Amino acid sequence: MKIAVIGTGYVGLVSGVCFAECGHDVICVDNDKVKIGNLKNGVIPIYEPGLDELVIRNAEKGNLIFETDIQSAVQISDVIFIAVGTPPKPSGEADLSYIEEVSRQVAKSMNSYKVVVEKSTVPVRTGEWVKRTIRFNNKSDVDFDVASNPEFLREGSAISDFLKPDRIVIGVDHQKAADLLRKCYQPIIDQSVSFDLKTNSVIHQEPQEEQVPFIVTTVSSSELIKHASNSFLAMKISYINCVANFCELAGADVEQVAIGMGLDSRVGTKFLNAGIGYGGSCFPKDVSAFLEISKELGYDFKLLSDVIEVNKQQREIFIRKIKNALWIIKDKTIGILGLSFKPNTDDMREAPAIDIINAMLEEGARVKVYDPVAMEIGKSIFGDSIEYCDGPYAVADNSDALILVTEWDEFRKLDMEKVYKMLNYPIFLDGRNCFNPEKMREIGFEYHSIGRK
Ligand code: UGA
Repeated sequence: MKIAVIGTGYVGLVSGVCFAECGHDVICVDNDKVKIGNLKNGVIPIYEPGLDELVIRNAEKGNLIFETDIQSAVQISDVIFIAVGTPPKPSGEADLSYIEEVSRQVAKSMNSYKVVVEKSTVPVRTGEWVKRTIRFNNKSDVDFDVASNPEFLREGSAISDFLKPDRIVIGVDHQKAADLLRKCYQPIIDQSVSFDLKTNSVIHQEPQEEQVPFIVTTVSSSELIKHASNSFLAMKISYINCVANFCELAGADVEQVAIGMGLDSRVGTKFLNAGIGYGGSCFPKDVSAFLEISKELGYDFKLLSDVIEVNKQQREIFIRKIKNALWIIKDKTIGILGLSFKPNTDDMREAPAIDIINAMLEEGARVKVYDPVAMEIGKSIFGDSIEYCDGPYAVADNSDALILVTEWDEFRKLDMEKVYKMLNYPIFLDGRNCFNPEKMREIGFEYHSIGRK
């Protein structure tokens, strides 16, 4: 299959590379000349484990090409995935101007039947607008279909999520488009291209009997599946965070409660980790966009407003905990472990670290930080208002309190006796419940976590 992917952000780049790994001829297009120049030289714009190796391998094989020219990419491709950004407007509504612009350019370039696929996360009904835009700009009257194919990959495990998904969802108006999309995904559906979680590597094998579910539905339902899934997961996190706050008052332990709840298969054990709330480029944006599109359609989806509010409060509660533990923040040195919104990524969009550090700076604290991969992004946000350390022990050294914000493995493995000796005061606030409270107290820490005694 010949595939064009327009937009080389997280979703576009990972999708393009994985389709190439499946044996298709892929052209990844972006209007950012510097980015495309770098990609041609094997320089990857994002931190994603395993991605650079796949880009280099497929580019060398010749089935992955990087381009700035949409027209030629569209003309030689059968299927065109639109994976450009849909950033939030101040109201929370998704800004779809990039989608419109690309739809227009695709329409003007089409020379034969094409399937144009929305891969970016978009509000329900965007497909109708894309179809209309293409129809108005399709001067040579070429036949086309618009399809929806939401992506469910997570940052930090993007390749395994793409190649070993729980399901593939597509929304189409016609069977012809469904058949072409099935062809794109066939190696993933039959798992002849997959991902071995044990060795953390892509595998090529004989087609497997157990196939990945391939769901074919309408364009609107497919669009909705993405917003409804992300919002449900965000709701699960806000729910367990409310339970955690309740546990603190009731003297219960949220981890025990989550285990007990999660073993009911209707609840499930995943996404029940209490903490300082969700961040990143997806949940905050998607829950707000889902709420806004609901309002636009005339429905007040109140539950989503609460999910957002609880997530905001969760950070405020944690900041209050820091203040309660330290009394006066002014002139104290606060050590922060972790900047990225979650481990295995350098992404700091909507990261709790930003609010926590800003709150400490506003109170007049000195802030020292370390993150295994997000230091450069941290510098672009905080400049020289904070101190950047070369490791977690340097953060602990002479700090008045240590705050764990991101649950990197490196932090879980710290020698806590050593950390204890390096701190001025033995105060440890754990925003991700990474340590055993009893053991921490045995060492001598005044240990605070989320929803545990
Ligand atoms: C999320 C979804 O999980 C993907 O399925 C989806 O494709 C993606 O958004 C997207 O729309 O593109 P991602 O934002 O990469 O993926 O990260 P997650 O691993 O889902 O974590 C999101 C946030 O929730 C993180 O801040 C994490 O710390 C937090 N979280 C997660 C919790 O606080 N508790 C949990 O139990 C799980």
